[in-house]
Amino acid sequence: MINSNGTTNYAVILAAGSGERMGFSTPKQFLKLAGRTVIEHTLAAFQDHPLIHEIFIVVSPKDRLYLEELLLKNPVPKVTRILGGGATRKDSSWAGVGAIPADALDHANILMHDAVRPFVTRRIITETIEALQHHEAVDVAVPAVDTIISVDDENFIRDIPDRSALRRGQTPQGFRAAVLKKAHELSHADPDCSVTDDCKLILKYNLGDVFVVRGEEKNIKITYPEDLFLADKIFQVNSSALEDGPPLRRIQDKVVTVFGATKGIGQAVMELGEHYGGRMHGFAASSGCDVSNPEDVRLALQHVMQTEGRIDAVVNTAGILRSGRLADRDPADIEREIAVNYLGSINVVRAALPLLQATRGGICLFTSSSFTRGRSLYTIYSSSKAAIVNLVQGVAEEAAPQGVRINAINPERTATPMRVENFGPEPPESLLTARAVAEATIKTLFANFSGTVVDVRRSSASL
Ligand code: CTP
Ligand code: MG
Repeated sequence: MINSNGTTNYAVILAAGSGERMGFSTPKQFLKLAGRTVIEHTLAAFQDHPLIHEIFIVVSPKDRLYLEELLLKNPVPKVTRILGGGATRKDSSWAGVGAIPADALDHANILMHDAVRPFVTRRIITETIEALQHHEAVDVAVPAVDTIISVDDENFIRDIPDRSALRRGQTPQGFRAAVLKKAHELSHADPDCSVTDDCKLILKYNLGDVFVVRGEEKNIKITYPEDLFLADKIFQVNSSALEDGPPLRRIQDKVVTVFGATKGIGQAVMELGEHYGGRMHGFAASSGCDVSNPEDVRLALQHVMQTEGRIDAVVNTAGILRSGRLADRDPADIEREIAVNYLGSINVVRAALPLLQATRGGICLFTSSSFTRGRSLYTIYSSSKAAIVNLVQGVAEEAAPQGVRINAINPERTATPMRVENFGPEPPESLLTARAVAEATIKTLFANFSGTVVDVRRSSASL
């Protein structure tokens, strides 16, 4: 497959490092993050990008079998080669360049990317490829925020370069394939060449200019153990990832079951899903399906299976919100709130998981911004919403081997009947629309991440 201008774009994912600075026995590209290995997140970014045609993965021979198993479980159709890496990053990069077929070299671009940068965005990949129409090579970088100092062997400052001209390099680095191949060949033939960076090779041998595309602060390279915490947080605040996420029309012809479908966000998911051609099936307490009753949930899903023969996605928006000091509340009322908000989601997940295995489907549950901190007068609601987040994270790991994804939507204050009942009328501009939350929900159902809390804010809502 080639571009309209006749160019094939190869992504070469460098995954042959051993992660010494991370200090774990498993190389960091194979550590789990938000339900999948780091490299699977990275591969998804290139698999999902329409301008990428083929993906090569460069891996250490000892990890090859493990990688092949991962790809069997979670296929990435654009991966056409798995190559053995070398002792240095430059050797691994060379393995990638060397694998481009000779007759394709003059009409190919290579995007060299670190397997341990899972947050590369669609924009970065697009701009890197576009810049290769005019330049031989492209680097991706962000402004240096700290003052950079250069020191000598004795640890004395040698120079403090002007920060305004300094950038921190990220990946991908993009190249016209023939140019990068030439650079590596010259470097192999040059006994004095100590250069390790591919872009620097282009400059050293005067093979062209290297344009710089704007990177992203969040496009971090997972290097130290602390980076895993940061990466986890980046996945949690994933609303921006949805901008790069699947289009709404991905729902077309998909069989989607919605619990809590007659009001508020559930109703909006039904309407938006139908608008984009989803085969929507809604259930609600008002029509006899109480999520706190496992049998009701089972029968609802069974009905959809009998009608459609499969289920691709399940959403549970059913929830109730009651207020009052814990000491003053009626015990039966407390139990009811927990039964709907927490046990209801457990019932939905347990009944849906076996059915979603066949379609490698997705589940969305609902949390609330109160999950991070309990709220007075809303102790049961906020603690049940915290429980949802933990449920999602745990189930995401358990369900990953079956290819089922589960996430929690965390909408800011939303204009729903439940909100009006509890808080009275509020200025509409201070509230998210149910439709904007429905949009984020549908995108999340078909996105490739799992175990994530997707924040939906007014600023991130496109409607
Ligand atoms: N890489 C590679 N081959 C090597 C060295 C590194 O393919 N011989 C890849 C890594 O797998 C990683 C990327 O290059 O995806 C960036 O390198 P780095 O962060 O340095 O990873 P490691 O070399 O694995 O880590 P460390 O330097 O801490 O050992
Ligand atoms: Mg390294």
